[in-house]
Amino acid sequence: MLTLHRRTGAAKDAGGGPGAPSAGAAIEVDDLSVMYSARGSGPAGSGTLAVAGMTFEVEPGESVVILGPSGCGKSTLLKVMAGLLEPSSGSVAVGNGAERIGFVFQSDALMPWRTAVQNVELAVLLRGGAPREARDSARELMDELGLADACDRYPAELSGGMRKRVS
Ligand SMILES: Nc1ncnc2c1ncn2[C@@H]1O[C@H](COP(=O)(O)OP(=O)(O)OP(=O)(O)O)[C@@H](O)[C@H]1O
Ligand SMILES: [Mg+2]
Repeated sequence: MLTLHRRTGAAKDAGGGPGAPSAGAAIEVDDLSVMYSARGSGPAGSGTLAVAGMTFEVEPGESVVILGPSGCGKSTLLKVMAGLLEPSSGSVAVGNGAERIGFVFQSDALMPWRTAVQNVELAVLLRGGAPREARDSARELMDELGLADACDRYPAELSGGMRKRVS
């Protein structure tokens, strides 16, 4: 179970609305808890408490490492911070230059039947890009990642690091 209290930023901005971090902070996690409910008809409260009352702030440009044993709740915390999972209680606010959170998944989120460039193209399409634009920007992105030569390879033909970059 992941739990931490750390406040580095200024005191909470009284005027900040929901979703807005206090002045200065790029990400503000406030008393966040995540409980996975038990499958089936287990006794009430028999779920897994993965994150328990976490409070911390990340300043713009600050690098933060979340370290802990397997199963302690690191991925759960990151999923909530990226908006992929609802908190059970508490809140996450993102702003001040960090409006969008990029997320590299622990396991590659690639479709094995699509080539590397087709996987990137799909991601652009899903973000609302037009098909033509998606095709062009997928090639550009692959180029930026140093993967121009790997465009037409399937995920199984890429190295682990290459797969992570495509993800
Ligand atoms: N979707 C889920 N449903 C139920 N329980 C889950 C789910 N995802 C994770 N858990 C449980 O929540 C706890 C935290 O899992 P999490 O994936 O956040 O761990 P982690 O710190 O990222 O571990 P690792 O270092 O192995 O990746 C674990 O006990 C795990 O079994
Ligand atoms: Mg994990």
